[in-house]
Amino acid sequence: MTLGTPNTRKLHVVTHGCQMNVYDSARMADLLAPLGYTTVDAPEGADMVIMNTCHIRERAADKVFSALGRLRVLKEETGGRMMIAVTGCVAQAEGEVILKRAPYVDLVVGPQAYHKLPELIAQVHRTNKSVLNTDFPAEQKFDFLPDAAASQGVIANLTIQEGCDKFCSFCVVPYTRGAEASRPAASIIAEATRMVAGGSREIALLGQNVNAYHGEGPDGSAWSLARLLAELAEIPGLLRLRYTTSHPSDMTEELLLAHRDNHALMPYLHLPVQSGSDKILNAMNRKHKADDFRRIIARLRDLRPDMAFTSDFIVGHPGESDADFEATMALVRETRFALAYSFKYSTRPGTPAAGLPQLPEEVKDARLYELQAELRRQQDEFNASTVGLTTPVLFTGTGRYGGQIAGRSLYAQPVVVESPVELTGEIHTVTITHANPNSLLGTLTQSKETKAA
Ligand code: SAH
Ligand code: SF4
Ligand code: F3S
Repeated sequence: MTLGTPNTRKLHVVTHGCQMNVYDSARMADLLAPLGYTTVDAPEGADMVIMNTCHIRERAADKVFSALGRLRVLKEETGGRMMIAVTGCVAQAEGEVILKRAPYVDLVVGPQAYHKLPELIAQVHRTNKSVLNTDFPAEQKFDFLPDAAASQGVIANLTIQEGCDKFCSFCVVPYTRGAEASRPAASIIAEATRMVAGGSREIALLGQNVNAYHGEGPDGSAWSLARLLAELAEIPGLLRLRYTTSHPSDMTEELLLAHRDNHALMPYLHLPVQSGSDKILNAMNRKHKADDFRRIIARLRDLRPDMAFTSDFIVGHPGESDADFEATMALVRETRFALAYSFKYSTRPGTPAAGLPQLPEEVKDARLYELQAELRRQQDEFNASTVGLTTPVLFTGTGRYGGQIAGRSLYAQPVVVESPVELTGEIHTVTITHANPNSLLGTLTQSKETKAA
């Protein structure tokens, strides 16, 4: 490895996993920019490749080693000059295994140590040895990472909370991301203000457990998510707010009311429930019952009749009987989701459920198939129900074909409209004319409207 001339180094970042990884990847690129790294779209010929990984399910983690094998070939083609860094949740969980199985990896950095990247890169150059850093330092990485670059585009993500103290039986996040920590409100507001100045109009607040947010407010008291959302809604030019991912146990009354009272908050909530069986919810250590979830949904529909919901489900958790699975199906049928993600339970090393007797693969497969068929039906039904609606769309840019512009509905559905003028960054009313499986078509019904609905 030799040092390139500053300003000429090429950085390629590959991101797996959740939105928080997407956000972190962007922050790492911003951090390395002053050192002369400019991002490139392909790994070929890059001076540095960062692979930001996900450990949530077995298949996600497996992807890492096959991708590393391909990078090794490219590294050899550069005469060993390409530096390979593995970051993210696999780095945290399996850092030593990575260095053993893939000794050509130069750098393994866990999610809480990204602010140390420049120092760690220098250390690799200096010692010509691989470096592993999976510390959970006392300082918060966000105090040391640069803010999101001025513009992520019309729709932007902002991580406000990280880590998890909930320890669900199946989940690696508390081990890979560490204890729950909230950023101070002032730094979030400042970052959001800069994003809006750079052209962002919709911001999604991110956290593994975002509604447990309890960051320090400017007055020294702990602010709730609802309080933070209220403050952010006051930023001129910020038209839409979302937050993800939430836990049912942290849906406070104040947050429920925000869906009625906060003019920027979208009527759309991702609320993972995982299962409809109280026995399984208990085995999962979810700390809520199926009826708690039902109550939250009913109350939100009452406060804001146009609310729509998405969720996550796991089928085949240890101990799940046919009756437990049927309880999940019943909950799905009665809730009617706009969209939902469903997964086969995947054994994660070191988590409590990994040590329990496992269900046969074919049982999990059959349940997943049945659940996904129902969820697909509901998604189609939801999309179809928007046909004929006249609804505000936030335009994000041009469409795939000439003469088209593209935007997002209140429910984050992609919407495509024929229009001779670009309306990027503006909200206009659109009549939805057609629903495709993953997008909507519409016509502009009004020339100008800039208020969020
Ligand atoms: N913090 C969020 C979600 C984190 S992970 C929450 O509390 O719900 C995203 C989703 O991955 C989870 O909601 C869950 O449905 C799924 N998931 C997590 N661990 C899993 C495992 N071991 N096997 C299958 N799916 C899993
Ligand atoms: Fe994982 Fe549960 Fe924490 Fe969500 S709440 S991140 S599923 S441990
Ligand atoms: Fe994956 Fe880590 Fe996100 S395990 S889902 S990248 S928090």
